[in-house]
Formats: sequence, C-alpha cells, structure tokens
Amino acid sequence: MPLKSYGLEGVVAAESELSCIDGEKGILEYRGYDVHKLAKNSSFEEVAFLLWYGYLPKKKEFEKFKNDLRNRREVPEEIVELLKLLPSTTHPMIALRTAISFLSSFDERLEDYSEERNMERSKRLLAVFPTIVAYFDRIRNGKEVIPPDPHLNHTANFLYMLRGERAGEIETRVLDLDFLLHAEHTMNASTFTARISASTLADMYSGIVAAIATLMGPLHGGASQKVMEMLLEIGEVDNVEGYVKRALAAGERIMGFGHRVYKVMDPRAIELRKLAQELGEYTGDLTWYEISEKLREVVYREKGLHPNVDFYSASIYANLGIPVDMFVCMFAIARVAGWTAHMIEQYRDNRLIRPLQRYVGRKNLKYIPLEDR
Ligand code: SDX
Repeated sequence: MPLKSYGLEGVVAAESELSCIDGEKGILEYRGYDVHKLAKNSSFEEVAFLLWYGYLPKKKEFEKFKNDLRNRREVPEEIVELLKLLPSTTHPMIALRTAISFLSSFDERLEDYSEERNMERSKRLLAVFPTIVAYFDRIRNGKEVIPPDPHLNHTANFLYMLRGERAGEIETRVLDLDFLLHAEHTMNASTFTARISASTLADMYSGIVAAIATLMGPLHGGASQKVMEMLLEIGEVDNVEGYVKRALAAGERIMGFGHRVYKVMDPRAIELRKLAQELGEYTGDLTWYEISEKLREVVYREKGLHPNVDFYSASIYANLGIPVDMFVCMFAIARVAGWTAHMIEQYRDNRLIRPLQRYVGRKNLKYIPLEDR
C-alpha cells in the first residue's frame, strides 16, 4: 500500500511564525503581511528585516540595517582566489556553495550559537551572496571583479557588480521585487534542509550550504533555468501548442508549472507576470513574455496546471541579461533571507528532526559464509 505521506506530502514538520500559505485561495503572507501588499509597498531589504525581526522597521532602524548590510558585502581576498581556481565551466550554484563553505573558515566563533551571533551571520550571508555570484561571473568571463558600491541598495549593487555599470531604475525595481517574492516560502525543500541541519546544531554556514545544494534541483529552484531552456527551444508563440502536447504525451513535466501546495495560481507568479510584462515593454523585447502567456493558456487547458514562482522569473532574468545558468542563483540570493530566519527559529526552540520510515526490505536472512556463496 503506497505511503500516504510519500514526499512528506501533507505532513506538518514544524511550527513557524515566518510565513504562511493558503494553497486553496492562493495566499502567501510574510509575518502576517500579504505578499501583494509587500510587492506594492516594500523592498527586499525591508522584507529581510521583517523576516528576521518580526516587524516592519522604523526609518532610523531601517537606515542602520541597510548600512549594516552595506558594510558586510566585501569578501576575503582568499574567496576571490578560490573563485579563480574553479574551472570556468563550474555551475554558478556550485561556485556559490563552495565559496560559502570556505567563508565559514573565517568565522572564528563558529561554535557560538547565540542568537546575536547568528543574526550577525545572517546579515553577512545575505550581504555576500550577490558579491560571490557577481564575482564568479566576472572571473569566469575573464573580467576583473568589481567591488561593491556602498552608495547602492542591495539589488542595484548586485547589478552594478555584475555589469560594471549602474542599472536603470525599472530594472533595479523589477529584480528587487523578484527577490522580495522569492525570499521565503514556509517548508519548501531547501528551507526544510536548512532546518534539519540546524536541528543537529550544525553551524549556520553548514545549513546554508546544504540549502544551496537542495535548491539547485530542477524540481525546486533549478526550474527557472529549465523554463528558459524550454522558452529557447520553443522559440516562438506558434510552436507552443505543439511543444506542450508532445511533452505531455511523452509524460514530461512542463517546468515552471504545478506546485505541491498551491491549487490555484501562485500569488508570486501573479506579481511576477506583471513585472515580466513591464520589463519586456521597457526593454522592447516581449518575446519570452508572449511565449510564456501562450504556455500558461495551453498548459492550463491541457493539464489544469498553473504557473509557479519559477515561471515568469525566467523572462525577467532573460530581459535583465542574467546568464541562464545563474537564474537559480537569483533564487538563492533571495531565499537566504528565509533560510537564515528559519534556522534562527529552529535554534531558538530546537528538537532534533528525525522522522520514522516504514521498512519494506527483506528480514531475518541466514548469513552464508563467503566460501559457500
Ligand atoms: C519551487 O515547495 C515550495 O514552496 C517550492 C517553491 C518555493 O518557493 O520554495 O515554491 C519553489 O520549487 C516551485 C516548483 C518549481 N518546480 C517546477 O516547476 C518543476 C515542475 N513542477 C513539478 O515537477 C511539480 O509540479 C512539483 C514538483 C512542483 C510539485 O509536484 P507534486 O506536488 O509532487 O505533484 P505530483 O508530482 O504528484 O504531480 C501531481 C500530478 C501528476 O499527474 P498524474 O501523474 O497524477 O496524472 O500533476 C502532474 C503530475 O504528472 N504534474 C505535472 C506537473 N506538475 C505536476 N505535469 C506536467 N508538468 C508539471 N509541471
């Protein structure tokens, strides 16, 4: 008889105050604030503060918080040297995972689990993810790295370090909202990985390295790269119908569609769809948005599935000129806010996470000595 909770479907694995989802109604809230309201009024840095501290900051404390992040963007020279050692063909998520693992060697008080120390680590990790991703892309393309600019906000600084020039206001706002919408999402696979790691009292870097590794899978954060590869293969709107019918007939998954929890359209996809259109109109290239819209219509008609968070993100990153193999790094740059917040929640009231299994193998076998086998 199949295991009802296969893939832990329907199993409540933790209690959390960080975010909640209503999958039937398509509602997502961060600390009680609906993401549609946050997308309209907030920013990625403000949402990081909200997730970590549980309330929206006042002006002065927000300015201090943003400065705290700005002052933590640099990485040790050894990290740059490490990134130079990696083959240029290394996947950027592997570069990020490796660099974060190395970064833990520079934390002299790794055994200090105090909340104060872990909050410091959370700020450090959030601040350096963009630096590491941008540095690796510059290095693998044979370019000089561009140090962070303390005059720019988190997202504008990332685009500056990546491109070597300041991005426009619309591009910065669209990517910042993309990060805001990717920041946190209850007990998804990579967040659960981070909590399991924290529950053993492993250090925060170890949990984040494990979460980066988990996010990379194409059924999770890796989907956005697969969505782009699909859009490139389809090429134009007229090819969508045939592509979908062939893929579904072959039993393939259409990347960027479906979700374990949402039974209606992912509220983040609703916001990202608007941003993909706005950015496409700004850049004058609506190709990927138009193919996406046709895919949304056909996949819903053929399979009753809705787009998830990774679907329209692909069009946004493509129009920002982000390399396709770095799409999932955008997800990681955002989700490190949620991962660190969940780890802090786990450390605060910890119990080792250790589920049961149902054994379905053979039992009570007689041992046959080697010479008699
Ligand atoms: C993220 O958990 C989170 O919150 C994750 C995330 C976050 O913010 O952290 O939201 C981010 O990971 C979004 C998901 C990105 N992944 C993809 O886009 C990959 C494609 N999607 C699927 O593989 C799938 O929808 C999952 C993995 C997302 C969810 O799968 P489930 O809940 O395990 O559902 P299932 O595999 O049991 O499928 C149920 C039915 C099946 O049909 P039948 O075999 O019963 O006829 O729906 C079908 C599936 O074949 N189905 C799909 C499909 N997704 C589900 N069919 C075609 N294409 C798809 N994408």
